[in-house]
Amino acid sequence: MSAGENIRHDSANTHVTGKSAFIDDRVMMHGEVFVGIITSKCAKGKLKSIDFSKALEVSGVIAGYKASDFVSNSWGTIVHDQPLLVDEQVSHFDEPLALLACENKESFDLAKGLVGVVIEEEEATLSLDVAIEKKEFLYTATSFKRGDEPLEIIKKSQFFLEGDFFSGGQEHFYLESQSSIAYPLDDGGIEIHSSSQHSTETQHVVAHALGLPLNKVACIVKRMGGGFGGKESQPAAFAAYSALIAKKLNRSARVVLTKDDDMKTTGKRHPVKTFYKISFDEKGKITAFWADIYSDGGAFTDVSPSILERTMFHIDGAYFLPSVCINASACKTNYPSNTAFRGFGGPQGTIIIESIIEDIASTLGIDALKVREVNCYRDENNITPYHQVVENNTLPELFTQLKKDSSYEKRREEINLFNKQNKGVLKGLSFTAVKFGIAFTARHLNQGNALVNIHLDGTIEASTGATEMGQGVNTKIAQIISEVFGLDATKVKMMATSTQRNANTSPTAASSGSDINGAAAHKASLLIKKRLQNVAWRKMNDFPFSTNEEYSLEDIEKSTRLEFINGMIIDKVENKQISFEETINIAYLNRISLCDYSHFRTEGLGFDKTIGKGKAFNYFTNGVVVTEVSVDEYTGEMKVLKSDILMDLGRMINPGIDEGQVCGAFVQGQGWVSMENLCYSVKGELLTHSPTTYKIPTIQDIPREFTINFIENDTTDMNVRRSKAVGEPPFLLGISVFTACKNALSYRSKDTKIVSMNSPATNENLLMKLEELKA
Ligand code: MTE
Ligand code: HPA
Ligand code: MOS
Repeated sequence: MSAGENIRHDSANTHVTGKSAFIDDRVMMHGEVFVGIITSKCAKGKLKSIDFSKALEVSGVIAGYKASDFVSNSWGTIVHDQPLLVDEQVSHFDEPLALLACENKESFDLAKGLVGVVIEEEEATLSLDVAIEKKEFLYTATSFKRGDEPLEIIKKSQFFLEGDFFSGGQEHFYLESQSSIAYPLDDGGIEIHSSSQHSTETQHVVAHALGLPLNKVACIVKRMGGGFGGKESQPAAFAAYSALIAKKLNRSARVVLTKDDDMKTTGKRHPVKTFYKISFDEKGKITAFWADIYSDGGAFTDVSPSILERTMFHIDGAYFLPSVCINASACKTNYPSNTAFRGFGGPQGTIIIESIIEDIASTLGIDALKVREVNCYRDENNITPYHQVVENNTLPELFTQLKKDSSYEKRREEINLFNKQNKGVLKGLSFTAVKFGIAFTARHLNQGNALVNIHLDGTIEASTGATEMGQGVNTKIAQIISEVFGLDATKVKMMATSTQRNANTSPTAASSGSDINGAAAHKASLLIKKRLQNVAWRKMNDFPFSTNEEYSLEDIEKSTRLEFINGMIIDKVENKQISFEETINIAYLNRISLCDYSHFRTEGLGFDKTIGKGKAFNYFTNGVVVTEVSVDEYTGEMKVLKSDILMDLGRMINPGIDEGQVCGAFVQGQGWVSMENLCYSVKGELLTHSPTTYKIPTIQDIPREFTINFIENDTTDMNVRRSKAVGEPPFLLGISVFTACKNALSYRSKDTKIVSMNSPATNENLLMKLEELKA
């Protein structure tokens, strides 16, 4: 009854009124300690010594801690190659070296400059190009290959392009910085409250760091003030800092970074440079594609291998590549370890092919949409470079419908005319698509568990490993549960995520939070529902509860026809009914459980990364967009005039929340390709470490006209309630802002018409490119 409805996000009221509690809103415990972090002031070197003596003279400074204070100082999601605190090797600017436990932040601010740090500086690798040249790799993936040798085909082809493409990094810019509070427990254990997408990993890292068994470390996540992937792995280190000090001092300890410190110390989206060769026929149909991808992993492995693979998985975009070879390596540089960010490498892959398609169109002098149409995955051309078949493909339908709904062809003509007649302002139009693979590509992460408890007043509390970061996963799961019991969703409350209730969970990531955890909650609810049908059936038909004997298999079978509607349990065949509340009370008195737990795993996945082949994804979330931009030829100022989005999200659990996700993701993608520009000093220090220097899109920047629509699709039977994941896919539609800029500039390009431009297309870059084209 309530799944499929636009009910409000469960935190909507408290977010808007400012009452929602985040980590730093937790009331201070008596004696709580403020934890400050001392960081390195060079990008590479050998740490020779740390001297706390002067800092300890400052009133309110309690103690200083170093790497050697941890039982184990190394951590990392895939490889334990990252120190919690530098023990010897400094690997990036602003890397955590030491901790100061203080009575308050004021003491820390007075003392931090007094910690004596000696580092013998070494030459740092601060350029991706240098890392590529020196082959300094953290990871090299097994290539994806299909069809004939592409380089042979490209060599013989009449039409081909060759080049490189770079897309820049991106700061997560969540509103709540990395934060954690640790409470020491009387049994020597620790309770951690963390702003983390991954309660289990935070628990594991803290336990490992302190040498505690896992059952003595609990990690609780009530909610995050945004995560966007930046809290998939990296919160664990900050949790370990607070836990160390809570353990050492037996006082609760709080780590809350300032915005600037958060931006300086934590990893970002991976910048990616790709060298490619591509051949095509006179209609723009791609015949062969070859790519060498290099991502900037930063100083440590973190989740770079999985992100790199997702770049490989998404370099095909929505397009069939008949003969293809994709190679990829993640480079090691002296920047903070780059990490998960909405799309998880997927955007970096898709922007390459979408950008190349603009060039193919320019080369042939045809409209880029035509090139996209001839290459789009269709039933006869439906095999990906990693040999997964694209099934249930809604891309052709999306293309046809949006082309019509957006009046693409008419607007193209208008823009052709506009650009011919006007000087000073150029317009550009671009149609791009997303085909985003849903599943963790690390197969073991595609599992989840859920606990559902019904209380005797008919309200329900449930918990899963999913963490709420604003995306509405709690609201969606509550809707799934309430639908099973025919109750209003307000009857269901999601508990804070806790390793004490749900163990061995996966990060809430890969857009699959509601898929996996919703499915587990659905399963647990169905177990309880079955028992309640049985109870209601007995009550309706006067079967005694004392024994099972009078109750035949046939009756059990019949009981499954009882429906749960609006708080009642109804037998439509015999026209009998009983209330949900009465039924649960009868169940309780007859010692029948009103609680259950279920585990869920996604079936059918089988990608083998050692050979680069197999079914990596459960299904794909698809969408298309048409974006129109204007570029001021004198200033480079770009405006997004209009974006029309059409997506397939299956049967949505909450259309309002999904629309919000599409809108937010698109704008975040738009920021990545057109505004957000990370700048570093020659020493590797982040210069753009606050909103004054790092510009994310605001309400002024979003498309002036902006529509979001969905197609109907009831065929997604491989996912809970036939819904599709939404969190990341629409981020990739933001790429249309970049390709629309390229399209606008192509009107000023003379001979080949190719506008080779890297991302982001900032106003400054657009202006410089225009100058170049004039020359
Ligand atoms: N939406 C909000 N408001 N805040 C966030 O931090 N993170 C995104 C997306 N939407 C995010 C968000 C990312 S990176 C992912 S993977 C998904 O939400 C995770 O949640 P889901 O799997 O429940 O969709
Ligand atoms: N997506 C997001 N996060 C992940 C993934 C993935 O595919 N694999 C591991 N962490
Ligand atoms: Mo999202 S980048 O998978 O946390």
